[in-house]
Amino acid sequence: MATLVTELDLPGIDPADPELKGDRWHVAANGLLDSGKWLAQGPLSLVVIDREAGEFFLRSRSAEFPGRLIADLFGIKDGPLRDQVDANIINRSGDDHRRLRSLVNPALTPRAANRWRPVMREILEGLWEELETKEFDFVSRFSRPYPSQTIARVMGAPAVDASRLHDWSEWIQRQFDPIALSDPETVETVQDKVAEFYAWVDPLIEERRGTPADDLITTLIRTEEEGEKLSDQELRNLVLNILVGGVDTTQSQLSQAIRLLAAAPDQWGLLREDPEKMVPQAVSEVLRFEPVTAFTARQLVEEVEYRDVTFPAGTLLVVCSFTGNRDPEAFGDPRDFDIAAERGKTRPLTFGAGIHYCVGSNIARAELEEGLRFLAEKVETIELNGLTELQAVSGIYGIDRMDVRIQPVSG
Ligand code: HEM
Repeated sequence: MATLVTELDLPGIDPADPELKGDRWHVAANGLLDSGKWLAQGPLSLVVIDREAGEFFLRSRSAEFPGRLIADLFGIKDGPLRDQVDANIINRSGDDHRRLRSLVNPALTPRAANRWRPVMREILEGLWEELETKEFDFVSRFSRPYPSQTIARVMGAPAVDASRLHDWSEWIQRQFDPIALSDPETVETVQDKVAEFYAWVDPLIEERRGTPADDLITTLIRTEEEGEKLSDQELRNLVLNILVGGVDTTQSQLSQAIRLLAAAPDQWGLLREDPEKMVPQAVSEVLRFEPVTAFTARQLVEEVEYRDVTFPAGTLLVVCSFTGNRDPEAFGDPRDFDIAAERGKTRPLTFGAGIHYCVGSNIARAELEEGLRFLAEKVETIELNGLTELQAVSGIYGIDRMDVRIQPVSG
């Protein structure tokens, strides 16, 4: 007979611990792997350690992303933020979700993402030209402006609005972060930011209806599935989801990439030696080794039995991509950061799995690849230069500030 999950003896971890970052995070997560267990117990949820089990719960039809539950827990019952939570693609399931995905997927295929690579390079060139010194904060000079300027161009927003897009993304993303939501003032601000975003995007959509352009908003307006189009509500929320999903994540992953590579000069050398081969591999390795989406959550809508364990309906599970991405059978020597390692074909859990698998993964990969390629061509050496202010791993595992010193390629 299956064992009830509450009867298991599990190691403990608190995914919402604000101190979980940097080495401390690696020690804690590797400790879970060393426990030999595939589940851990957190204060509010179970934590799934193992890759295969993580994929199982992410793919399960008996599990949903608990976005509405999180909103309820923090008293977000109405207002623009609540409207947005209810409409968010991540909180939809079944036919409803399938329809939204089939409408948005064509705009974000690998081919569609590749079309934006020249724009990405142009943005990077602009940021490079603005640099006046060899010592600077990488986050404010590259990681922050680059994805928001890219998304502005992809969406068809005026370039001058990129910094506002960035601000909205960072704030609205906090709807997923329990530490941030426990502060009522933050909730109020997020409510205001969603309202501001809607007030900004509605006229832009209206304008594109009259004057189509070569951008994502126009593509979404035009997209039809079996004669069906997106409603205005769906369209403004999808644009918001793409903004919120696409800026803070990519910015944080680029920062983490540079943090890892700056701390490993031999790896930077490998990247520079053969960018054609090594850039895509480096991006895969960074995504695997230091996923900025270290945790994502699911709630069971009905009882589930898995590996001889019964999980009652309502159980909350947090799937840990960091530990999942260290599955030795799938990834070889998984605790090493090595951009030259052959890791096989298994997908890491960084972009999720199943129906909610990151819809922007092709854009994200293209942005990260172009970012690393550009820097590998321009920068002979890069090192960390004092301050690195890491955020907690609980939301998006970002970096507030990271001082670096570079030696540009001469000539
Ligand atoms: C390195 C960058 C990124 C990472 C690590 C990342 C990670 C993820 C993860 C883990 C999920 C699934 C969450 C779950 O199932 O619980 C997801 C979904 C999503 N991502 Fe990303 N993402 C990134 C970039 C982007 C970009 C660039 C966009 C938009 C262009 C985007 C838009 C979305 C959207 C809209 C969803 C929800 C999809 C759905 O519910 O069907 N993401 N992302």
